[in-house]
Amino acid sequence: MSFPTRRPRRLRRGEAMRRLVAETHLTVEDLVAPLFVREGITSPAPIRSLPGVVQHSIESLRKECVELAGLGVPAVILFGVPEEKDAVGSCAWDPEGILQHAIREVRSEVGRDMVVMADLCLDEFTDHGHCGVIGADGDVDNDRTLELYQKVAVAQAEAGVDICAPSGMMDGQVAAIRSALDSAGAQDTAILAYSAKYASALYGPFRDAVGVEIDGGEGVAGDRRGYQQDHRNLRESLLEIRDDVEQGADMVMVKPALSYLDVIAAARGEVDVPLAAYHVSGEYAMVHAAAERGWLDLEAVAVEQTTAIKRAGADFVLTYFARLLAEMAADGGLR
Ligand code: PBG
Repeated sequence: MSFPTRRPRRLRRGEAMRRLVAETHLTVEDLVAPLFVREGITSPAPIRSLPGVVQHSIESLRKECVELAGLGVPAVILFGVPEEKDAVGSCAWDPEGILQHAIREVRSEVGRDMVVMADLCLDEFTDHGHCGVIGADGDVDNDRTLELYQKVAVAQAEAGVDICAPSGMMDGQVAAIRSALDSAGAQDTAILAYSAKYASALYGPFRDAVGVEIDGGEGVAGDRRGYQQDHRNLRESLLEIRDDVEQGADMVMVKPALSYLDVIAAARGEVDVPLAAYHVSGEYAMVHAAAERGWLDLEAVAVEQTTAIKRAGADFVLTYFARLLAEMAADGGLR
């Protein structure tokens, strides 16, 4: 009888050995916390489909950022929920709009201790819920939308954002935003492009968080398949990513993360700029829903999923688990 000479189990004996040979280490430095701020509220409001996540008031947002910075989380990404929406989303570039207000407040609170990112899109601000303006043919008008994105970028930069993160999937958005930022003297404001963003069914809870319903016309629900990517495609995402880097993206993103680990891995091989991945609202909500039923261990799954995203090739992960993971890291590490 012959036994194998190489025995992989030797290297799995005990946590110290496993730590020594671990190929991927998830740390607090890998985390970006998505935060929602809602105009006109004075205390945080829970979000039905995102347990543990709230719509912040300005005050609670400041406090949350200070606490996250204290835990070592390097960055936040802010989303605004305005009181008033209109056809073009004008609150998105209003210097007094909720997102600009939030950026200024967070900036003054955390200084340079934390990187402040802002989602750059119109859907939270339009009454029809699309990521751009609707043209005469009923479709989102790409180039008119780009002009508005330019105004949003300049407003965010003037409010003190470090990174604009365009998420609307309009063609040419990175080049348009870069040139607007440069003309406004905001050469130091970086762009994190949501380059490979899929028209995913996993954004449902996010839309609860920002109060967005997509209008499909004639009273039916709409979708974003006319501008976000088709989930059947991989190569197309590499074209998008290369294109965004050529247009001046400082960082690129794949979104969602878990259903698109192949895209993350392929993107990693394709470009050398920092690569982000967004563990989105539906991915987070599913884990919570199952954990509530006692079907799985929330903390263990949070670590496993986030580590998997990093193992696939992401440099950092936008995740609603950021705070939980940062607390776990402070409390003995993430394994
Ligand atoms: C668009 C935007 C969306 C998300 C981030 N930016 C929604 C969409 O494209 O419909 C989704 C994030 C998530 O689900 O967590 N502003």
